[in-house]
Formats: sequence, structure tokens, C-alpha cells
Amino acid sequence: MNILVLGTGYVGTTTALALSEMGWHVTGLDMDSHKVQQLLQGKLHFYEPGLEPLLQKHLQSDNITFTTQADRSIQVSEIIFICVGTPPLPDGSADLHYVKQAARDIGRNMNGYKLIIIKSTVPIGTQEKMTEWVRSAQRQSHPFDIVSNPEFLREGKALSDALHPDRIVIGATNEQAAAAVQNLYLSLKCPVVITTPRNAELIKYAANAFLAMKISFINEMARLCDKVGINIKEVAQGIGLDPRIGNRFLQAGIGYGGSCFPKDVAALLSIAAEHGTELKLLKEVVSINETQHLHLMHSARTRLGNFMGTKIAVLGLAFKPDTDDIRESSAIRIVRALMAEGAQVAVHDPVAKLPPDVNDAAIICSSPSQALENADAVFLCTEWTIYQQLDWVHAKQLMKRTNIFDGRNVLDAKKMAELGYFYQGVGYR
Ligand code: UDX
Repeated sequence: MNILVLGTGYVGTTTALALSEMGWHVTGLDMDSHKVQQLLQGKLHFYEPGLEPLLQKHLQSDNITFTTQADRSIQVSEIIFICVGTPPLPDGSADLHYVKQAARDIGRNMNGYKLIIIKSTVPIGTQEKMTEWVRSAQRQSHPFDIVSNPEFLREGKALSDALHPDRIVIGATNEQAAAAVQNLYLSLKCPVVITTPRNAELIKYAANAFLAMKISFINEMARLCDKVGINIKEVAQGIGLDPRIGNRFLQAGIGYGGSCFPKDVAALLSIAAEHGTELKLLKEVVSINETQHLHLMHSARTRLGNFMGTKIAVLGLAFKPDTDDIRESSAIRIVRALMAEGAQVAVHDPVAKLPPDVNDAAIICSSPSQALENADAVFLCTEWTIYQQLDWVHAKQLMKRTNIFDGRNVLDAKKMAELGYFYQGVGYR
């Protein structure tokens, strides 16, 4: 049986490879011939640990292939995963343009029953809309089911999340379709939630919104900690041991970024507004997050006087380690803010790059040491292991003034002070 994965972006490629690893034969479909060519040569068009060797393995054993031919690949596949992007529109709502296109392509090329599984993050009611889009594009009437099966992949850990999920959520309108989707994942050992498509659609948004809320909560507590001289890390440990709270996602810092939390929280706010209700708590979550980097900037300004004429090293640009993704990265916000206040900014990241509009204004460094040379302060913005393991004794000799502003609270405050640094984390020093 052939499974078609429509869209070979981050989610699509990971889903396709995870399905191959589970023993299914998979075809990845994408309109972008360059991407398809690259994938056929065993090369990924994005950075994600562990995926490329798996791609090469399954290409060699003929378990996976990629194509740009929509008509034929739809015709020969009974099961079709939709993994296209749902980028934010200017008002924060999700753009369903690609989903609609996919539904219409499937409808137009149908030659028998199809089980359509939507993995893309989509607003409540999209499964119903898709049913209409598929039906209206059909040339001849064929039966089909559309099941909502959201993904919960983390960048940098996508493969492990796909093969060892915490849960599988299946939103279907009938038992047979739910069972057929469940059957695809039989080799995975985890709880399965079988529910309605609408519930599944909201589960995805609510999960991300809750995690974003946890981060903004601890970040707001960290602001208080800085005022009253309390250590947020110990507070997080103390509350996190209560299993009702849990110790994960309580790492204070300069705020969350990435392609999911900011986009999905904005989409959820927009869904609520569309239905005439206001999610006040989530609005605060966003507002805390958007100003969180300023909190560390303020600490640095207090220490340095102002940034005019200073040289500042920024270590880490990605929104988190093990990815080259800079979307909504707090590090980029800090680079922009420092530049706006007259600092000369020297940046380093193992894989991520600055966006073009600020790239020319910064000093791009090939090593952390180069960025630290003659710096008045360093901002640690992404907790890559190389920064945590840096030789901070040697680094001290390179810097003009030994100030560390740790945006991820990953260095040991006491040790840094013993080495002679002025160290300030977020709610931690
Ligand atoms: C997230 C969800 O975790 C995943 O389930 C969903 O499918 C997609 O969105 P991702 O965006 O890859 O995954 O990253 P994640 O590891 O969740 O981190 C998101 C952001 O939150 C990062 O900027 C990270 O630095 C920040 N973060 C995370 C904190 O600031 N503190 C924490 O305690 C945890």
C-alpha cells in the first residue's frame, strides 16, 4: 500500500520518513521541483538532526520516493497525508490557501476511495471545509474520509517525537476511518485519543497555547525575582516537583520563538475573536513574550550606562538550539534592539544566520572567540552546548569588559562570578 505525503516541508518530510521507518512505502509530493530533486539525492533542504541518514537509508531500500506529479501520485495512493504550511495572515489567522489547493488537487484526481489525513495545524472547522473543497472538485463522485491527526513535533527533536510520541490524536467522523489511521501507527506504543475532528483541531492549538503560557508565567515570575533578589531556577524547581505543575517548560529566559508558538497562539486568538470571545490570558501571554527580551536589555543598560559605542557579542541566533530556524527568535529581537541603541554587534551561531536586513550591519563571526574579542558584554541568546562548554577563563582575556547577560540562564552564576565576571541571567544571578 502506498502512502502519499503532500508537502515536503519540515512536517511533511519528517512524517514521510517516520512512516517509512514504521515500514510503509511512502511518496512525498511537492510542487517545488528543486526541493524534490534535493530529497531524491538524499539531501534535506532544512537543518534537523538525524533525518538525513534516515532519508538516505530509505531511498536506498526504495521505501521512499519524491515527485512533483500530483495527478499520478494521488491516483496510486489510497492514503494521503496533508502536510502543507498554514502561515499566518496579517491579522494572525491561519492562511488555508495551501490546504484548499491540496484538497482541490485530491478531489480533481480521485479515482476511488481515499483516506485523507490532515497533519497541518488548522483552525476549528477546517475538516468540514475540506470535505466541501474535495467534494466540489471531484469530476466523478468517489467516497473519502478526512481525518484530523495533528503533529506535535519539536524542531531539533522531530524524529524522536515522530517515532516516540506522547500521544496520537485522531479526529474522525466515523470508527472505520479512525481505525484505519490508528492502524498506520500500530508499531508506536503510546496512548491514542480518538475524538471528533473539531476537538482534534483545538487540541493542537490548546497544547501549544498552554506551553506558551507556562513559559510566559515563569518569565513573569523571573521579572519579579530580579526585583526582589530571588533565584527563579530554585523557584521553578520548587514548584515543578508538584506533579500537577510539572518541571518541564519552566525555563525562564528571553522568551519563546519559532514557527509554532507565536503563530498558533495568534491563530487561536483570531479564532476566538471570530467567534465573539476574547482569550484575555493568552493575550497577556503574547504581551509578556514580546517584551521579555527588553527585560534583559534593561539589566544590561543599567550595568553599561548605555549601548552607544559599545561592542556587544551575541552568541546564538536560532530560536532554540539544534535548529537553524530564526523565525520569531528573541535573539534577533535583541540584535535589532542593540543596533537601534547604537551598539556594534558581533554575532555567532553554529548554523543559523541573521536576516538579510540586519546582516550587513553586524560583524558575522566564525567562532564564539571572534565575537568576544574586545566586547563590552556578551548576550547568550541560544543555549547551544558549545557556549555552555566554552572556556570562559580564556574568554575573559579576550573581552574588554567582562559582562555576561545570559538570556537562557544556562551558565553557572556563582562560577562566573568567581571567574571575575559580572553575570546577570533572567531572574537569576
Ligand atoms: C513547539 C512544541 O513543543 C511542539 O510540540 C509543537 O509541535 C511545535 O511547537 P518547537 O517550536 O520546535 O516546538 O520548540 P520548543 O522546544 O517547544 O520551544 C519553543 C520555544 O520556547 C523556544 O524558543 C524555547 O527556547 C522556548 N522555551 C521552551 C523557553 O523559553 N522555556 C522553556 O522552558 C521551554
